[in-house]
Amino acid sequence: MCGIVAYTGKQAALPILINGLKRLEYRGYDSAGIALTSESETKVYKAKGKVANLVELLAGQEDSLLLKESTCGIAHTRWATHGSPTQENAHPHASPENQIVLVHNGIIENHNQLRAKLKADGYEFLSETDTEVLVHLVDSFYDDDIYDAVIRALKQIEGTYGIACFAKNQPGKLIVARRGSPIVIGMGDQEAIVASDASAIINYTRQAVYLDDNDIAIVQGGDIEIRTLDDSLVTRQASEIDWSPDAAEKGGYEHYMLKEIFEQPEAIRNAIRGRIDVNAGNAVLSGLSLAPRELVDLQRLVVVGCGTSLNAGLVGQFATEDFAGIPASVEQAAEFRYRNPIVGSRDLVLAISQSGETADTLAAVREAQQKGALVAGLVNVVGSTIARETGQGVYLHAGPEISVASTKAFTCQVSVLLMVALKFARAHRMSHERGKRFAEEILAIPELVERVLAKNDEIARVAESFVKYEKAFFIGRGYLYPVAMEGALKLKEISYIHAEGYHAAELKHGPIALLEESMPVVALLNDGPGKDKTLGNVYECKARNATVLGIITEGDEEAKQAVDHYIEVPDAPLHTAVVPATVALQLFSYHVARLRGCPIDQPRNLAKSVTVE
Ligand code: M6R
Repeated sequence: MCGIVAYTGKQAALPILINGLKRLEYRGYDSAGIALTSESETKVYKAKGKVANLVELLAGQEDSLLLKESTCGIAHTRWATHGSPTQENAHPHASPENQIVLVHNGIIENHNQLRAKLKADGYEFLSETDTEVLVHLVDSFYDDDIYDAVIRALKQIEGTYGIACFAKNQPGKLIVARRGSPIVIGMGDQEAIVASDASAIINYTRQAVYLDDNDIAIVQGGDIEIRTLDDSLVTRQASEIDWSPDAAEKGGYEHYMLKEIFEQPEAIRNAIRGRIDVNAGNAVLSGLSLAPRELVDLQRLVVVGCGTSLNAGLVGQFATEDFAGIPASVEQAAEFRYRNPIVGSRDLVLAISQSGETADTLAAVREAQQKGALVAGLVNVVGSTIARETGQGVYLHAGPEISVASTKAFTCQVSVLLMVALKFARAHRMSHERGKRFAEEILAIPELVERVLAKNDEIARVAESFVKYEKAFFIGRGYLYPVAMEGALKLKEISYIHAEGYHAAELKHGPIALLEESMPVVALLNDGPGKDKTLGNVYECKARNATVLGIITEGDEEAKQAVDHYIEVPDAPLHTAVVPATVALQLFSYHVARLRGCPIDQPRNLAKSVTVE
């Protein structure tokens, strides 16, 4: 949530900062700002709305030497937490006369007490933000040593932060720090670019150092010194960012979401490459370092996640129980730590997160660790906090997901969860023969997805009939219930149509009261156990004048007759049919939103990763 980028070195900072902001805009996009400094001048520029508005503001000041020549600056794109999205509330925030200038991600929980104290000391506040409290607090300790002032200020802070700041008297020196909100430092030749996520730095360098919680770094040119809040010098290993700058470009597609939908066959191949041993009928997940004894003794799988990752977790739950015979549950990460969960040393808590930074999922990981459970991550972003704190797990290798609506992460999560289920199943009750078939079923997923993508134009035509609606139900059962949930989530977040996913059997327990002509129903009708029952629900919906879109198995004439519109998906066992069925719904939602003229990659009020509670 929110994006930070900062630069110090030998090049002009402005283009690097603007480029970084554009890369980070998916993290938050209600206002943006930039501050530049040099020996003679320090200035802050801010604009409400998208980064494009900031660029326009700067374009009006082309004769400014600072804009052309400054080699040090900080920038921010905001997702509002404290105070509405206005120019005043945009970052960077500055202390009087721009003595200290700072950008911040996270939430300062004791901002009210600190604000009252700072006001009493004579500080005047120009914004409603918690960040302005921090900048004045640093200023109040500043005595020509910015590092010392920041460390003293941070010791008074309760809450979370990722910050970058400088003092106008010390141009070229950046202080960056983290607690609960990621900071990565990209290292160049006599220069460094700091950001809240790697996508802002990959154009310049692949060598990166990730700060740990309570780290503070002094960055000047290519020199980086990292200390902890108690002022001890520490070493953090540099790692190589393993995706290319192209991966974070639209590559000719109108939206990142569409590009990411179409990347799925390759993304899933990457997620399963080298991890399936067909001969052994097993999955090879070396990152999941459970000892053979731990695998056999495994008593329970508890999956935690939020949003799309939570929906993927349901598939993992069903497959683990179905094939491994191990009790499994899925928990909303946001609830996990508040309800005193019962987990112990024979339970595996699997945290699913595309970003690896979701605050609630991270808190669930920490709670599970406290309780002595085995904990692993199923994460996309390498080096992210959940990946590092779990210490074991399975990376998705889906490549960067930029669109706020998660697509390829879901299908890779499901593919990996099926491999996890296979591994558990083989250690428990699955035969070698069944294991081989299961392995082949997983390997077939990318091709199933390709066959759905080939129907893109057809799906776009189906979408035309749904543009007019303001609400919709999605129904499914068994493995298709998570697909209904995920389909509804996708439609609501990008098209602003109020969509709800239900287990098909739940319709009669309440939701059916809402059925009428203006409430279309999307029914997951893939051939397999449960289809006939869902068909029964479809007839009930039709009897109440609802228009029904069926996601059906290719050639299923009975299903075609039952519905008003249909999208055919390839025949597959239901545990893998989840993936092509979801892809069909991703494309459906995408086209509905496109036809409604919605800002698909950056839906209102959302941000790509939710790093605050
Ligand atoms: O990065 P994570 O997978 O932890 O994110 C979880 C959710 O915030 C995320 O899936 C969200 O629901 C997406 N916007 C859904 O498209």
